[in-house]
Amino acid sequence: MAFLTKVLLASVGLLPAVHAASSTSSAANAQYTLPFDSMEGVTMIPNVENPKAVDAQAVCPGYKVSNVKHSLRGLTATLSMAGEPCNAYGTDIESLSLTVDYQAKDRLNVQIIPAHIDATNASWYLVDEDVVPRSQASNGSVNASDLTFSWSNSPSFNFEVTRKATGDVLFSTKDTVLVYENQFIEFETSLPEGYNLYGLGDRVQQFRIKENLTLTTWAADAGNVIDENLYGTHPFYLDTRYYAIDKKSGARRMVKPGEGDQIQDYAAYSHGVFLRNAHGQEVITKPDSLVWRTLGGSVDLTFYSGPSQEEVTKNYQISTIGLPAMQQYSALGYHQARWGYANWSVMADVVATFEKFEIPLEYMWADIDYMNQYRNFENDLNTFPYEEGQEFLEKLHQSGRHFVPIIDSALYIPNPQNASDSYPTFDRGVAADAFIKNPDGSLYIGAVWPGYTVFPDWNSPRASEYWVNELELWRQKVPYDGIWIDMSEVASFCVGSCGTNMLHLNPIHPPFLLPGEPGNVDYGYPEGFAVTNTTEARAIAAAERRQVAAAKEESDGSQPSSVSILHPTVTPGVRNINYPPYVISNVQTGHDLAAKAVSPNATHSDGAVEYDVHNLWGHQILKATYDGMLRMWPGKRPFLLGRSTFAGSGKWAAHWGGDNESRFASMYFTIPQALSFSLFGMPMFGPDTCGFSGNADLELCSRWMQLSAFFPFYRNHNVLASIPQEPYRWAAVIEASKKAMAIRYAILPYLYTLFHLAHTTGSTVMRALAWEFPDPTLASVDTQFLLGPFLMVVPVLEPLVDSVKGVFPGVGQGEVWYDWYTQTAVDAQPGVNTTIAAPLGHIPVFMRGGSILPMQEPALTTQAARKTPWALLAALDKNGTAYGQLYLDDGESLEPTETLNVKFKAGKTRLTATATGTWVESNPLANVTVMGVSSVPSNVTFNNQPVQSSSVQYDATAQVLFVGGLQNMTAHGAWAKPWTLRW
Ligand SMILES: *[C@@H]1O[C@H](CO)[C@@H](O)[C@H](O)[C@H]1NC(C)=O
Ligand SMILES: *[C@@H]1O[C@H](CO)[C@@H](O)[C@H](O)[C@H]1NC(C)=O
Repeated sequence: MAFLTKVLLASVGLLPAVHAASSTSSAANAQYTLPFDSMEGVTMIPNVENPKAVDAQAVCPGYKVSNVKHSLRGLTATLSMAGEPCNAYGTDIESLSLTVDYQAKDRLNVQIIPAHIDATNASWYLVDEDVVPRSQASNGSVNASDLTFSWSNSPSFNFEVTRKATGDVLFSTKDTVLVYENQFIEFETSLPEGYNLYGLGDRVQQFRIKENLTLTTWAADAGNVIDENLYGTHPFYLDTRYYAIDKKSGARRMVKPGEGDQIQDYAAYSHGVFLRNAHGQEVITKPDSLVWRTLGGSVDLTFYSGPSQEEVTKNYQISTIGLPAMQQYSALGYHQARWGYANWSVMADVVATFEKFEIPLEYMWADIDYMNQYRNFENDLNTFPYEEGQEFLEKLHQSGRHFVPIIDSALYIPNPQNASDSYPTFDRGVAADAFIKNPDGSLYIGAVWPGYTVFPDWNSPRASEYWVNELELWRQKVPYDGIWIDMSEVASFCVGSCGTNMLHLNPIHPPFLLPGEPGNVDYGYPEGFAVTNTTEARAIAAAERRQVAAAKEESDGSQPSSVSILHPTVTPGVRNINYPPYVISNVQTGHDLAAKAVSPNATHSDGAVEYDVHNLWGHQILKATYDGMLRMWPGKRPFLLGRSTFAGSGKWAAHWGGDNESRFASMYFTIPQALSFSLFGMPMFGPDTCGFSGNADLELCSRWMQLSAFFPFYRNHNVLASIPQEPYRWAAVIEASKKAMAIRYAILPYLYTLFHLAHTTGSTVMRALAWEFPDPTLASVDTQFLLGPFLMVVPVLEPLVDSVKGVFPGVGQGEVWYDWYTQTAVDAQPGVNTTIAAPLGHIPVFMRGGSILPMQEPALTTQAARKTPWALLAALDKNGTAYGQLYLDDGESLEPTETLNVKFKAGKTRLTATATGTWVESNPLANVTVMGVSSVPSNVTFNNQPVQSSSVQYDATAQVLFVGGLQNMTAHGAWAKPWTLRW
């Protein structure tokens, strides 16, 4: 949950002044509400896209290379300005150092930094290697590389990175100048026409990046605004290029835009590019090039040669950002959250209702409702008293379930004139000197949920120590099992240190209407609604109009007075960190970097200013929290969810998509979001299922509960005062959810194995079709996806339909797909969008020929599911073969001492299982199902023992063989001994 955009009011540009809640009025307590956050004090800054803005490419001289020194691993050189400084958006750096490092066969790093590092940090800031490590070198050499770096001085320094195998130029700054100033860096690479780029998040956007966009990055507390900057920073892209292969000659030619027919043979070559830079930045996607601009830092580019997406993603994680955290087995269960669970007994009722309807539930989540006046580490003793909570949690834990509370990023600062307003968490933070300061050394005081707040300074080791201590102290009162970090951009509702000298006015209400308060009632319904009940839709539209009119009346004449318009200018040698001369298109009001965030001049203990490290705050709180969790639970995998992330946050945390809406469009965007986070090394991703803001209905929630059942992180979450949307609220949603959850819980062993592979090798969990099938027609497909290599999901993403169109990748090359429900091979043609029946309550799922899924029985908790017998589901490919694997351990140890790896292999008439490892799995094997068995099995044996014919079923039409009754033959455990099933 988060800062709430008043969707309705903001859309008409009207925001009423908010009055203090009336009931708590007293003379001793000053009543004060901040003016609406994003207007008061915000500076309107004309965007640089203004046609009058200087084009740095036209006025800047670029650099000349000299002093080149070659080595086996690359070269170093000096770059000196090739003309008079242009000082376009900052002060030019006259002399730079270039280092080209062939780090590994498949990895090349190009680094350009100022030749003379200014010790005072006054001019520029290079990202701390402790916070964001540089990519690691391993056995690289110029000669052995997949890539070639070349440079030229004509007309000024430019460079190219080429793939040796194809001669393809992957990156070229030819005919452009390098601009390197203290507050502005710009470089530009050409790209092939119709390029396929992915990544560059955090963003709600289509999976394949469109041309002519300005992709801004500046961690923002903003709802899911399409194509704008969101919570996190991942300056990484994947570039995929397709070649058509002539079947006879084997000759290769690059595919033209729009070309592709799913019949020809293609080869896909992918490479990755990571810019290790944490500053505010922008990528401009031109039709034939990409321009990268940052507000500081360095050029630290790593190129990953692939050539498959899988190799790029693995390399990026292993060498650079780190492999993702291994998840607890339980985290793969179903999670229920909402803003608005008003007390412990409401939460207990929710759990009881899940039980009553026998819907799986694994984790209960608490939003800010539990807090004492929104203060971290303090419960509201009226609604969430500690003793009652301990009883609730004990019962919850006994039922095999878990609890995760939200923890906000900012900490309340009390009014010193009010002796009764004590907040020991704040006092301890001051004693530890753990908070961010103003440039003058006083506390930086912003405003978030509790009123005026301070913010931990992660650049100080004291802050982490303090934070961990607070987590531990509070856990003695609330025995939680995981942590949910919110508002970590880091968000602030006012501009600047607005609480300085104002603490006596400590605001008692956030500077906007809470959902459900008069004036902010959400009358919106999902798309299908107006069509199905026009009577009610009209009544609602009228109520909405009245609300808008009332807001307009109230706001007339009270427009903010302090809005000023500023045209930032360059003062040579001086950085203007509050209003940098280059204005990124920050989504917040006025493009002001200080809007809705701690402002750029906030100062850290090591002298760093927020301007330089803003995008890292959310990354660092995850690190501090992860470390704290390891201390609280030594040796156990922390379950941690974070909103603002940076490249590498996956090492510690899961991520959810933030404040989406209860709309079909929002549901669609979760697929490209998830696929992007697969590329960013954060596989544990999921959205607020059924939508955060807005009202969901049974149709949307039915579709969404089924879709998210195939996402790695599966959580339903809702805003305050929207209509409830737990899956049990509608009979149809109960049925739909249980149906999809039955599949999810049955394939948990597969999902867990995928996570283990992600954690150990960097492979992905949720996958794009394009990553598994080299076919240019799949390059932008984001309306269907794969879960691991074996399952394909084709969800319905629009209202009021009962079918969906999908493609079956690879069928032109002989790929076989089996319908999950009928277990029969799908009759699909290459290049055809197949219509698939999908009535409400049915989500089309297909299994890929060649795969074997280890499964257990569905249950209401993962703990119960893990105690059930095993089953195998095999899908034979066109050659009659299949493979699969299974990883098991205790499900929670950071470094489990006992593990088990099982390999499955099927041929035309047999299937074998072989296990290695010491984890004891005592549940027997119940049955094996093989799809695609084309002839009647004659004699079924298990390890040469005949299987009773009554246990064998063969469906000749569907070509499915089912072998049951295997429990007795595997009584010591399904994988205790190697076995072979023959038919
Ligand atoms: C992008 O902009 C260029 C130049 O204005 C234009 O020719 C092209 O059609 C645009 N592309 C798209 C997809 O709109
Ligand atoms: C439409 O909404 C009205 C008002 O809520 C309700 O009385 C009526 O039964 C609804 N009609 C249908 C067909 O659902």
